[in-house]
Amino acid sequence: MIQFKFNSSFLIPAIALLTLSIGVITAAKAEKTAEDVERYAVFDEQGNLQRPMGYREWIYIGSPLTPNDMNNGKAAFPEFHNVYIDPVSWEHWKTAGEFPEKTIIVKELVSVGSKQAVSGNGYFQGDYIGLEAMVKSKTRFPDASGHWGFFRFTIEDSPNLHRSAGVQAGENCLSCHQANAATDHVFTQYYPVLRAGKARGEAGTGGR
Ligand code: HEC
Repeated sequence: MIQFKFNSSFLIPAIALLTLSIGVITAAKAEKTAEDVERYAVFDEQGNLQRPMGYREWIYIGSPLTPNDMNNGKAAFPEFHNVYIDPVSWEHWKTAGEFPEKTIIVKELVSVGSKQAVSGNGYFQGDYIGLEAMVKSKTRFPDASGHWGFFRFTIEDSPNLHRSAGVQAGENCLSCHQANAATDHVFTQYYPVLRAGKARGEAGTGGR
């Protein structure tokens, strides 16, 4: 019969190795989180925001709609606005109830396509036509209200987008958000997902 004999000379290195690998795994995880924060809002050396990628896998918070046919034929922001927040800032919003440094919120613009479906008359999403973003950064925008910078990747009348964008002048974007948005320059009044998740430690399920 084969007998395993565990003695301390085997056990001690084994435990040491296990502890070490747990340490390495934990460190790798922490590092990844820091990297992720950087990855969501990436700036080049000139301080231009790179067009956010992969945001459709962030947290989707809502779709305000300003259809052209309710705005004299051309709304200021056509038409569906699909809005996403980066996952790290969403986690912070759920626990602390505020938008942390490096928050990035993107607004993807989509045209109204069909106005009829088998479900009834309405507004149904058509084509992607633009992308805008706002980023909160004390280091990059020390003088801006709330430390928010606003960016526009949309190319007028084109399905293409700019690869990077410089920060917009305050009067183009920030001033309206500052004057009218309910929470720290973000229009939380139009996003039940944000209201339900605020400082609750969870997303809120069903109703409020
Ligand atoms: C006249 C006021 C006004 C101006 C100017 C304005 N916005 Fe907004 N923005 C809004 C409103 C209202 C919403 C939410 C409802 C909607 O999307 O229609 C919004 C939503 C957003 C959102 C989603 C987060 C949020 O707060 O709801 C982003 C990102 C955004 N705007 C970026 C921009 C950028 C970039 C510019 C400048 C190029 C800009 N906005 C100019 C009024 C404005």
